[in-house]
Amino acid sequence: MAYYSEELIEEVLSSNSIVDVISSFVRLKKKGSAYFGLCPFHNEKTPSFSVSQEKQMYYCFGCGAGGNAITFLMQYENASFPEAVETLAGKAGIALPKQELSGRARQEADKRARLLEINKTAAKYFYAQLRMEQGKTGMRYFVDRGLSPEIMKKFGLGYSNKFSDDLYKYLRQQGYEDSILKDSGLVTLDEERGGRDKFWNRVIFPIMDVNHRVIGFGGRVMGEGEPKYLNSPETMIFDKSRNLYGLDIARSSRRQGILLCEGYMDVIALHQAGFDNAVASLGTAFTPGHAALLKRYTKEVYCTFDSDSAGTKAALRAIPILKEAGITVKVVSMEPYKDPDEFIRAKGADSYQERIDAAKNSFLFEVEVMEGEYQLDDPEGKTLFYNAVAEKILQFEEELERDNYIEAVANKYQIAPATLHKLVMHLGTRAGFGRAARTLKSGVNENKKQKKEDGVKQSQRLMLTWLIEKPELFAEVGPYIGPEDFTDELYRQAAEALFAQNKGGELNPAKIISMFEEEAQQKEIAGLFHAKLLEVETQAEREKALKETVLKIKENSINYRSRHLEPADLEGLQKLVADKKGMQQLQKVHFTVT
Ligand code: UTP
Ligand code: MN
Repeated sequence: MAYYSEELIEEVLSSNSIVDVISSFVRLKKKGSAYFGLCPFHNEKTPSFSVSQEKQMYYCFGCGAGGNAITFLMQYENASFPEAVETLAGKAGIALPKQELSGRARQEADKRARLLEINKTAAKYFYAQLRMEQGKTGMRYFVDRGLSPEIMKKFGLGYSNKFSDDLYKYLRQQGYEDSILKDSGLVTLDEERGGRDKFWNRVIFPIMDVNHRVIGFGGRVMGEGEPKYLNSPETMIFDKSRNLYGLDIARSSRRQGILLCEGYMDVIALHQAGFDNAVASLGTAFTPGHAALLKRYTKEVYCTFDSDSAGTKAALRAIPILKEAGITVKVVSMEPYKDPDEFIRAKGADSYQERIDAAKNSFLFEVEVMEGEYQLDDPEGKTLFYNAVAEKILQFEEELERDNYIEAVANKYQIAPATLHKLVMHLGTRAGFGRAARTLKSGVNENKKQKKEDGVKQSQRLMLTWLIEKPELFAEVGPYIGPEDFTDELYRQAAEALFAQNKGGELNPAKIISMFEEEAQQKEIAGLFHAKLLEVETQAEREKALKETVLKIKENSINYRSRHLEPADLEGLQKLVADKKGMQQLQKVHFTVT
């Protein structure tokens, strides 16, 4: 996993200030010895995301996200490990030797580069076809749909003609072997029939990532036919759940918010009408990956989906995903037209803008959909509906927000606000309020629950954090506690590294994070180094707290070893006996913490 040497990674980390790196994405404010901001990894209103200059680490006390500058770029920008290292090296002006890539990593990087090249070549080929004699069916199709030459160019639109192997032959001519072509998603290789194009007789929509690189294609059939849209399969470079069509342009739009629609043609029609902030998911349902991607560029998303029931469903699905990512959602109605493309063609840009201005708050949209599921002309149906609405209002944690929605719903459905309020409170208390309200906002809180492990682990975390923040404590506790006393495997590894660093004369917790491969581990280590130190005022209290922590860790370590000792491990047994004796002495020790 470490494609670069440890020394190099360390150099890259120490040449970048984590505060600077994160500041270019998150607004940070200094508070005490750390910087705080709103966590970019979960939805929150008060900052619990901390960045420490000394530790060169970040940690969110709300959701547990944490790590060093490398992991930050990996989580925030979806970068791979080497990509993050390269970015940081670039910022610091450190030249990365190419040969430091390990054999496999280099092969993979080369392959990605080749696949991108193939896609680019194919896109150019399709683009040229559309403008030639054999592409006139495609050209006529686009013109009939009202597209201008400029917009066709902007989106790189193309055409795959009726021959079903000409792209394959062309790519072979360009020197690409079957061994790489088979992974491009553009051809199928058949022993008998040889190479075949995946796309033929279709107009082509190249799909770009946010850096304008062609990563896949969509192709619409000419006339009737199945499937209407054919899309590239996922490949090494094409992850449908992490890319959005049109985002490469929309990301730098000056318009407010992002318009999220369903189809390629909707995006293009909107851009042509001046709404260059339109994007679409790629023939797949909207995912949290999409939401995270959007969150980088906007705080507000307008769902402008088809008017049919599939469009409503898509909106109901996307809303909670977007909200969970901390994005405000509104829903735009295209009635009585089918989709944004048809709406724009029929009514024009100004009318579309009016629809945006009149977009519905996502909560009220959801309530409206719910309304359709109850029989409101029947007293019983009405009661059920109000109950369902009241329950839904409980999802808002803040009283003011709840009251505002109670008022809005009461107004709309002609129920007295006080009555609805009572209903909400009643349901709330019955479910044990706060809790009910919060469990609806699951994600983050599930995480919190997980974090609430037993006191022993908590003590081990406190100890490690303490040692980092006050390295002079190594001298105090070193005679009594060593890495072997950290009974959790991951904790032990981190402690070993930390104690070793201390011996070497320099603590570098951020470097320890990069010793671990998995994101989950990196997060946990970050948490380990960010235990909330008790806020104790006096020196005497601090000293007492430290002693209790040491005792707890040691006691646990002794118990753990008694339970796990191999009968033949004489040395272990001797150490255990000695440690047990040492406990009595430890009780009497006085630690000094200034
Ligand atoms: P629609 O069927 O609503 O297409 O599918 P559209 O964009 O209005 O198509 P036109 O106007 O008839 O050309 C919406 C989106 O769903 C995906 C495509 O991304 C399409 O743009 N889709 C649809 C597929 O991936 N495959 C299909 O067979 C159909
Ligand atoms: Mn359409």
